[in-house]
Amino acid sequence: MCGIVAYSGSRPALPVLLSGLKRLEYRGYDSAGVAVATPTDITIRKAKGKVSELVNLLSEESSLESSTTGIAHTRWATHGPPTQENAHPHAGGKNGIALVHNGIIENHRALRDKLKADGYTFLSETDTEVLAHLVDSLYQGNLTEAVIAALKEVEGTFGIAAMAHAEPGTLVVARRGSPIVLGLGEKETIVASDASAIIKHTRQAIYLDDNDIATINGSDLDIRTLDSGTVTREASEIDWSSDAAEKGGYEHYMLKEIFEQPEAISNSIRGRLDHERGSALLSGLNLTPRELAELHRVLIVGCGTSMNAGLVGEYAVEDFAGVLAEVEQAAEFRYRNPIVNPSDLVVAISQSGETADTLAAVREAIDKGALVSGLVNTVGSTIARETGRGVYLHAGPEISVASTKAFTSQVSVLLMMALKFARSRRMSREAGLQMVREIEAIPALVQQVLDQNDAIAKVAERYLDQTSAFFIGRGYMYPVALEGALKLKEISYIHAEGYHAAELKHGPIALLEASVPVIALCNDGPGKDKTLGNVAECQARDSRVLGIVTKGDREAIATVDDFIEVPACPLHTAVVPSTVALQLLSYHIARLKGCPIDQPRNLAKSVTVE
Ligand code: F6R
Repeated sequence: MCGIVAYSGSRPALPVLLSGLKRLEYRGYDSAGVAVATPTDITIRKAKGKVSELVNLLSEESSLESSTTGIAHTRWATHGPPTQENAHPHAGGKNGIALVHNGIIENHRALRDKLKADGYTFLSETDTEVLAHLVDSLYQGNLTEAVIAALKEVEGTFGIAAMAHAEPGTLVVARRGSPIVLGLGEKETIVASDASAIIKHTRQAIYLDDNDIATINGSDLDIRTLDSGTVTREASEIDWSSDAAEKGGYEHYMLKEIFEQPEAISNSIRGRLDHERGSALLSGLNLTPRELAELHRVLIVGCGTSMNAGLVGEYAVEDFAGVLAEVEQAAEFRYRNPIVNPSDLVVAISQSGETADTLAAVREAIDKGALVSGLVNTVGSTIARETGRGVYLHAGPEISVASTKAFTSQVSVLLMMALKFARSRRMSREAGLQMVREIEAIPALVQQVLDQNDAIAKVAERYLDQTSAFFIGRGYMYPVALEGALKLKEISYIHAEGYHAAELKHGPIALLEASVPVIALCNDGPGKDKTLGNVAECQARDSRVLGIVTKGDREAIATVDDFIEVPACPLHTAVVPSTVALQLLSYHIARLKGCPIDQPRNLAKSVTVE
């Protein structure tokens, strides 16, 4: 949530800061601001709305162009509404301090009262301004020491970047629970909360650990922890191209990411299928054959789309491996004191690797002694690092707020996980080889759906005017119904709910009428006949039914009112092309309605608050 960029070097800072903010805008986009060092002070400029508003504001300020040090922020409101006053950077009262912050200072009220008593006046409602004043109140000529002293007083999470007028060229950055990455350039350092803001400048990066604090001046770096002296953090190479983070000619990032799925899934699968043994490799899981054999239960935690993918994992692990599996909403897992055994494997699924609830669930599982693994897309993210048994998705950067290629890569990796567990138990080599072939076929199945993009856009035209919709499915298609409904509501603002097809008549059917369409997953396989029966029940209540049907399935096509065909394949892999069909449907409905697809209202890409 929110984005930070900071620069210290020999080039003008503003262009680096603003292009970085643009890149991070998907993390929060209700206001933005910069602070740059000038010979006489630190100048702060902020604007409500998108980064382009800030760019307009700065276009008339030529005096700031020569500054070579600065910090910048794009905000997703937590404390106080999105206003210019609440936008970052915030200034610390007396000593010319400026600070940007991601995360939440939980004891901000007590600190605010104390600082007010000491004579500080507050211009905003934010917890960040409290931190800026706190640093200021502890400043005695050394910004690093003041930041360390201040951070020792705060409870909560932070990724921060700060500068002081009296120390030109110096940035102090720190993290606890909110990522900070240092991009190492020639005579310069570019700091960001996400590597996508620095890849334009450098691929050499250092990811700070929790409680690290770095003092930066050009390319000079000193990293220490809040409690000890200097520490060494190795640089690593960012392995995705800056092209991968551009729209590449598509109208929206979401469409680009939908179309990237054959490649993204291939990258997730590559090198992980064992054609000799009919199994999956997934060495990142780091489980010994004995641990695999003794696995009692697989607990899958995640939020939103990642949790929906987890549900497919639950079905597949039980189906193929015969191992108990459960999926749970990560926030619930954390607070309901779940029973976790040392022979349980907790799999945390997260695209960003920074989702606060999922991270908290990971920590809870580690404390309870479980084996904990992360299924994460963002390399170097907190969940990836804390779980230690990470399986990266390798789906590439996902910029659009609505998750697409992360979901299909998650499902592909979960199927490989189920295969691996199954082969360590009751599945034969032949059956394993069959499943290897099925997983390998997924990218081509997805391509067949993408090839129908124009036809799907036409179908979307018939579902524009509704204000409410239901998605139904059963078995492996139940999570697809949940994910389809989530996608439609978040980007088109049409109220949509996903239900098990059998559940509709236990209540929701009361809402069906001509203006409420039903999108039914009618893929050929076990349960199809029953779903077609549910379709008839919906039609009897005047609902128009759009069926996702297996290519050439005349019975299903004859039953539904409209249809989108997906290629014939087993249901556990049909999850992927069927979801892609629903992604395109939602995309086209939102596009035709003129919605801001990549940045829907009220949402942010990475939810780092509870
Ligand atoms: C929906 C969406 C969210 C995320 C959820 C978890 O399109 O993107 O529901 O899936 O916020 O995010 P990650 O996977 O980053 O933990």
